[in-house]
This record gives sequence, structure tokens and C-alpha cells, in this order.
Amino acid sequence: MPNPAGMHDDLERMLLSAEEISARVAQLGQAISRDYADKPLLMIGVLKGSVVFMADLMRAIDIPVQIDFMAVSSYGQGAQSTGMVRIDKDIDISLAGKHILIAEDILDSGKTLSHLMALLATREPASMRVVALLDKPSRRTVDIRADYTGFEVPDEFLVGYGLDYAERYRNLPGVAVLKREVYAT
Ligand code: PRP
Repeated sequence: MPNPAGMHDDLERMLLSAEEISARVAQLGQAISRDYADKPLLMIGVLKGSVVFMADLMRAIDIPVQIDFMAVSSYGQGAQSTGMVRIDKDIDISLAGKHILIAEDILDSGKTLSHLMALLATREPASMRVVALLDKPSRRTVDIRADYTGFEVPDEFLVGYGLDYAERYRNLPGVAVLKREVYAT
């Protein structure tokens, strides 16, 4: 495998290979295709982490699907959180009458998703569900879960397949655990 800018030297171990992810994404695509066979489906990816997952998942879906993307950031962090998200990029497509499926690379505390779902609910889609490639339930602070989950993962610093540390490693084909020394300075 190529090792751009020594990326692999920073990795503790691979957690999920590209092949494992591909097999699971195929299963998710089949389940989604079945569940939305007679419904207008709009998949909304949450930038930037979801781009790789979205690109693969949409091709594993064999029914008509529209896609769009949002970028959000939280107002305030931790205890000072206002419970709001700021929209940095909104979708272009109307949600009226659409069955929307929010695609996330990882569900961690759940804050991003709960804020985003509350926001999108005000636009009255026909239904709203969530697909998350990775789920870290041990980190959850908000009572929220995905309707479709790829893998439950341990509470470690994960990078690759869209996930970053300081905007690096998103282009790793699999998901890896980052060495502590890389982020603990
Ligand atoms: C990550 C991830 C989710 C969110 C999950 O995004 O893509 O959107 O964090 O965390 P939560 O459940 O604790 O809210 P991030 O803010 O790192 O931005 P990115 O997708 O651009 O990397």
C-alpha cells in the first residue's frame, strides 16, 4: 500500500480493512434499498467525514436516490454548548415529502446528530433516519442511535475512510487507530 507522507508510521493498528468496510457497506446498501423501495429517498451527507462513506454507500444502493451535503459546526463546546448547530453549508434540495437518510461517518457523543435532526425536522420531511458507518456508544452523552450502523467501535482515536486528525488521514482506505503520541502533545 502507498504510504503518502509517512501516514502509516502514525498508525497504531488497522481496525477495519477496506475489504471489511466494503462488505458491510454492501449490506447496508441492500437493507436501505429494500426499506426505501417505494419511497423518494434523499441521502444527506454531513461534511467532511462522510464523503467517502457516501460515495461508496450510494453506489451500493440500487433504487433511485438523491444526494446532498451539509456542513455544520457546534456553537460552544462541552458544558457551554448552547445546543445549537451553525449551518456552514446547507442543502439545496427541498425536504418536503422526502424520506431523508442522514449519513454520518461516526456517531460519537451524538450532539452533532441530535442538533442536526432537530433542525431538519422543522423542514417537515416525510421521514428521517440515520445511517452511521461507525458507532462509539461508550461516548454517547445524548440519547440517540442510528437506524443503520456499520460497525460498533471502541473508544480510540480513529482515522481513515473520511475520518481525520487535524485534516489528515481522511484518504486512508481503511479505518485505523492513531498512535497516542501523534495527538497527545
Ligand atoms: C465528526 C463526525 C460527526 C461528529 C460526531 O465530525 O463526522 O459529524 O464529529 O461527533 P458527535 O457525535 O460527538 O457530535 P467533525 O466535527 O470531526 O468534522 P468533520 O466531519 O469535518 O471531520
